Amino acid sequence: MNIKVAIIGGGFSGIYALKYCIQENLNCRLFESSNSIGGVWKYNKKKSGGVLKNTYASSSLIFLHPTDYLFPNETPEFPHHSIIYEHLVNYVQYFDLNKHIQFNTFITNITKNKNKWIINYLKNNSNIKESFDKIIICTGIHQNINIPNDLIFNNFNPKKIVHSHYYKKNRQKFKNKNIVIIGGGETAHDIACDLSTISNKIYMSIRKGQWFQGKISGPNEAADLYFNRYMNYIWCKPYAKLIGYINEFMWGKGGTGVKEWKPDSIYGNSFFTKGRECLLWIAKGKIIPCGQITKIEDNNIFFNEKVANADYIILCTGYNNHHLKKLLPTVNYDKDKYKLIFDPDDISLSYCGFIRPFLTSMPLVAELQARLISCVYSKKIKLPAKDIIIKTIQKDINCQKSRFSNNYDRLNYLINPYTYCDQIATLIGCKPNMLKLFFTNHYLWRTLFFSPWSQFHYTINSNNEKTKKIAIDKLDQIKKSLSGQKLKKLANIGTIFIVIVLLIIISIIIGIIFGFVQGIKKISPYIAHIFSILLLLIIPI
Ligand SMILES: Cc1cc2nc3c(=O)[nH]c(=O)nc-3n(C[C@H](O)[C@H](O)[C@H](O)COP(=O)(O)OP(=O)(O)OC[C@H]3O[C@@H](n4cnc5c(N)ncnc54)[C@H](O)[C@@H]3O)c2cc1C
Ligand SMILES: NC(=O)c1ccc[n+]([C@@H]2O[C@H](COP(=O)([O-])OP(=O)(O)OC[C@H]3O[C@@H](n4cnc5c(N)ncnc54)[C@H](OP(=O)(O)O)[C@@H]3O)[C@@H](O)[C@H]2O)c1
Repeated sequence: MNIKVAIIGGGFSGIYALKYCIQENLNCRLFESSNSIGGVWKYNKKKSGGVLKNTYASSSLIFLHPTDYLFPNETPEFPHHSIIYEHLVNYVQYFDLNKHIQFNTFITNITKNKNKWIINYLKNNSNIKESFDKIIICTGIHQNINIPNDLIFNNFNPKKIVHSHYYKKNRQKFKNKNIVIIGGGETAHDIACDLSTISNKIYMSIRKGQWFQGKISGPNEAADLYFNRYMNYIWCKPYAKLIGYINEFMWGKGGTGVKEWKPDSIYGNSFFTKGRECLLWIAKGKIIPCGQITKIEDNNIFFNEKVANADYIILCTGYNNHHLKKLLPTVNYDKDKYKLIFDPDDISLSYCGFIRPFLTSMPLVAELQARLISCVYSKKIKLPAKDIIIKTIQKDINCQKSRFSNNYDRLNYLINPYTYCDQIATLIGCKPNMLKLFFTNHYLWRTLFFSPWSQFHYTINSNNEKTKKIAIDKLDQIKKSLSGQKLKKLANIGTIFIVIVLLIIISIIIGIIFGFVQGIKKISPYIAHIFSILLLLIIPI
């Protein structure tokens, strides 16, 4: 099949897209502007952006690798960036992908001429044009810095306002200084902790509050594994609120107890900052938590109850996708896409990795997206008709807006990874059929329903025996892990709780129907009946 596919970008997303497109016999080339794969995970002391020298993953190991190439056994639960980068390099070697990658090639723009995409790049000072049938944009969502335009810095020295993207090369300037950090994401968190060892005071300002989630539970068990299909099925507002209350009871409001950072949203309805290490620095008096900035006058930064005399402001205000405007001058890059992947007007243009899961991690979602794109481009899978695509886009937007109302304006690609992955898997045809499994393979059904959720749910039916075996082994390993065991206990408690509530409700209804006057005697056989049916339901656990 000679369908020419250009993949732009050699981070996780680009590499996965390349691997799956080759698997589908597409004629692919990956263009990477730097001299290495890895994207943000390739540490470069001199280059702005990407990981810092001491960045460790904020999501746990299970979510950081593809379904067919595992980390070595002894890899830590939250690995250093060098381990993640090395793993990706080994993956590329293992699947012999290097020969399809063209390094040091910055794609300046991509346009369409008739039914071919023309990509332009500079090589040896001359402009090269090449044509392709399909384009997969994998340039990542951390290319273009987001500078707040709603903050008025007045006469604060603009040279002393630095975006986190340029933190690496400015770090020494922050020694023994007072710093105001704006933002409450993981960059703000990591930089605040890093500066705590060298700066004087760090004022961390979060405008709308923030939910924080500890990385571990117990000695070194990944906390992001505490989620399963069972919880996803019963995840609704009252239930989320209940979990929120339990979380608040354990850790304080917003997962930290810091009143200045109390979030507006309920638990699970905004992205989490994965990490609570900053709390120790608050206790040590190094980090001072602050809410929204109310005004700035000279070096004085005013918050509701505090004033900071700042030497520097660090904007940890994230990124936007405006870089795509230059890359795709003839396309409205910002238009809503089908499943956040396909341009609805021309599916030969797709985006891989343009999502942000509110919990878990990006690589596993990018792998599923890559699988879908490759199957669509090799014509193995046909997407629905355009009117259905448009309707689905609108429906998805409504869901995102209602779930992530606090974040949607800035992060319209924030997703619930559990439902999103199921949707993509349905299109690929690899979503496990839970109803069928309930009757045909109850052991597997229980594993998928009650054990921690993972990407291996989507490879248990793989045609590739090796991939399938990895999935079965991994699912078993996750099930037996401490998180898996704890989740099982939690599921049991949850089920018993639901059963009791149901019993009470049913008893009341029956009571009303049969009339209390008839006495308990008459209705007791019914209650016994319902009891036994409900007990039967929990036996599989
Ligand atoms: C500090 C930091 C820590 C993170 N930690 C985690 C974590 O723990 N867990 C997690 O899930 N996610 C984490 N992330 C999110 C991270 O973005 C993803 O994990 C993942 O690396 C995204 O991969 P990507 O391939 O989509 O994009 P990137 O890694 O950004 O790769 C994009 C690639 O495209 C290339 N490129 C861009 N434009 C062009 C062009 N015009 N022509 C040619 N090449 C181009 C770039 O050079 C780059 O190599 C972190 C991000 C940062 C910044
Ligand atoms: N160790 C790690 O693994 C690690 C480290 C760093 C980064 N990362 C990843 O890198 C990605 C980017 O993280 P990030 O922290 O740079 O960005 P981010 O998560 O998008 O957070 C940006 C922060 O800036 C705030 N903000 C944005 N505009 C603002 C404005 N105008 N005024 C005041 N505050 C504003 C946001 O507040 P609102 O929420 O109110 O908009 C938010 O708190 C994430 O995917 C993250 O997981 C991971």
